Amino acid sequence: MGTVMSTILPTVFTGAPSRTTGLPFGPVASDIEEADRIFAATLAAYAAPSTGGATDLFSTTTGTPLSPLIQHLKHYRGKRLRPALLLLTAKACGSVTPAHYTLAAAVEMIHTATLVHDDVLDEADVRRHVATVNAGWGNKVSILLGDMLFTHAFHLTSTVDGRACRIIGEATNRVCAGELRQVCERGNLDLTESAYFAIIDGKTAALTECCGRLGALYAGWGDADADRLANFGRCLGLAFQIADDLLDLVGDEQAAGKTLGTDLSQQKLTLPVIHCLNRLPTGEAGRLRQAIREAGPGVGDCVLAAIERTQSVAYAHRRADEFARTARTELDALPRSECRSILEGLTDWSVRREK
Ligand code: IPE
Ligand code: IPE
Ligand code: MG
Ligand code: MG
Repeated sequence: MGTVMSTILPTVFTGAPSRTTGLPFGPVASDIEEADRIFAATLAAYAAPSTGGATDLFSTTTGTPLSPLIQHLKHYRGKRLRPALLLLTAKACGSVTPAHYTLAAAVEMIHTATLVHDDVLDEADVRRHVATVNAGWGNKVSILLGDMLFTHAFHLTSTVDGRACRIIGEATNRVCAGELRQVCERGNLDLTESAYFAIIDGKTAALTECCGRLGALYAGWGDADADRLANFGRCLGLAFQIADDLLDLVGDEQAAGKTLGTDLSQQKLTLPVIHCLNRLPTGEAGRLRQAIREAGPGVGDCVLAAIERTQSVAYAHRRADEFARTARTELDALPRSECRSILEGLTDWSVRREK
């Protein structure tokens, strides 16, 4: 168990609130709170005393066996980037509607489901500054909780309309396929850049793309403009994941609030390492692959020394910057407004963030 985990463990189980994000959501802060309320209300039945409803499968008069788990989710709150993208886009397009609140809650629920599952895959202990569900309850509970979050997200989306179900369904298909491909490519130390980009395009960019699209469409904008805002979200997501992969290598666990270093320990190659392996002379690249394969205690330092030599951190930053620039260009589809400026700021932050 990592050092971050041992320092936060007492907080997790005494129920103190998790740290907030500090991101500037300005004019949509109260809209994000409304999406948070929908998220919480959707799960509240599992923590409540018996009401005679369908969830009585789990109920007792004093709450349900699921209560501690659902309570934990209250402290398991992240930056809300995806609801923010959806709602800022909506407001920049002219109006936030009740459908937007439901959709923002649904995308955050899908995102949370993927994280609960991802922490099982990565054997991570800490997420959002608190214990992961797998650290607290084990893998079986995590898998089923993730499933439940997915099914509730789709049930919630069905209260909007068929178009929303199709858009969120397609995005989630891509997210799951991206995560699945990444797991299937574990240990492939010849992974190409294009395979890496295909993976992150699915597992991360599909959902941020969907946020831009839904924000625009449910504000009444047409398909062509919605496509531009979808591409904004996609490119921001690609930049965001490249930055995340850099954090996994060179970031600080306390600042990030999650277990880092799992990409290497799980033998998942990310952009800086792929670039480094392609740049090193053949013999050295072979030795680095061998070190990664053997996963000895010094592997992290070996990789850091190698990526320093090949300037692979700077390369990954450049690639992330390219996506961020494209994302900002797509924001030209929006009229100038405070929300558009915040979206521009979030795009720049996505590349340089520490958490
Ligand atoms: C984490 O996403 C997973 C990635 C796509 C890198 P976030 O960094 O947005 O996670 P939370 O929601 O703030 O915890
Ligand atoms: C997972 O990517 C992103 C998902 C879509 C779940 P990572 O494995 O890099 O995410 P973190 O670093 O655990 O947040
Ligand atoms: Mg992970
Ligand atoms: Mg990561």
